[in-house]
Amino acid sequence: MTTSELTAGAASAADRERLADRLLRSTAARSYDPELDIDWSAPPQEGKAFLPEHRSTLYGTAMWDRLTPQQRRELGKHEAASVAGFGIWLECILMRLLAKLAYEGDPATRHVQYALAELAEECRHSTMFARLIEWLGAPYYRPSRRVHALGRLLTATAHGPAMWGAILIGEEITDRYQREMAADDSMQPTVRMVNRVHILEEARHIRFARAELTRTAARLPRAELAVQRAVLGGAAFIVARNLINPEVYRSVGLDPAGARRAALANPAHHETLRYGGEKLAPFLREAGMIGPPATRLWRRSHLIA
Ligand SMILES: [Fe+2]
Ligand SMILES: [Fe+2]
Repeated sequence: MTTSELTAGAASAADRERLADRLLRSTAARSYDPELDIDWSAPPQEGKAFLPEHRSTLYGTAMWDRLTPQQRRELGKHEAASVAGFGIWLECILMRLLAKLAYEGDPATRHVQYALAELAEECRHSTMFARLIEWLGAPYYRPSRRVHALGRLLTATAHGPAMWGAILIGEEITDRYQREMAADDSMQPTVRMVNRVHILEEARHIRFARAELTRTAARLPRAELAVQRAVLGGAAFIVARNLINPEVYRSVGLDPAGARRAALANPAHHETLRYGGEKLAPFLREAGMIGPPATRLWRRSHLIA
């Protein structure tokens, strides 16, 4: 290593500590305990939505037109439960990745201490999403066996910018929908409160992951770029295709396979996915993480146009 490389390395370690220190202070000053801060005993309110109608996967299709207003609300409830269930799956992976970082790293650094603080928050979030599913009166929509196995593989092997990018796909796409719902007073107050808790705490997680992605992408050996892009493109596709479990359609008497086909062909649903990816995609592009050989996967995910 040259002297200038050593100096740059020390500067980036110092930056990393400074950011972790700021995030730790913010965590101490503002965080929630969803067990205490959310009134889980309050029943759903009459006439309030569980998901904005235009974010429903079937919105705008002929199938949607045939549903009654009550059925549309019921479908929204099950779609919200599916996103919460998928969120738990994602957070379980994230918790394991953060635990790995703490296991391998130096706990006397602010960086590892922040990873532990984030792990504690994700743990409370998963409990919060589990309680939300219970509150909705919906089942846990579990990812398919294949996706479950892929999650295990990702936990064991992901590293570098693809790992941070996969984390950001989980965090930033849902953040877009949650911000929209938190601002919408036609939504159920309990759902809005869950969203507010998550938005506030995820803002820190997103800053942390974005900084780590930028740092690790800059140091990536050229030969590894294609592999990292392919892993990230795969993660984007899996997240986009699995947020909504096709079993949700049974709640309104629709055949899961047929309704899934209608959703995947629905331009309004494509637009919802593109909206979800709108903030993240330019950042990943700038870092060089979207490109061949995975451009097509990204397009097929509809997270980019
Ligand atoms: Fe979370
Ligand atoms: Fe997070």
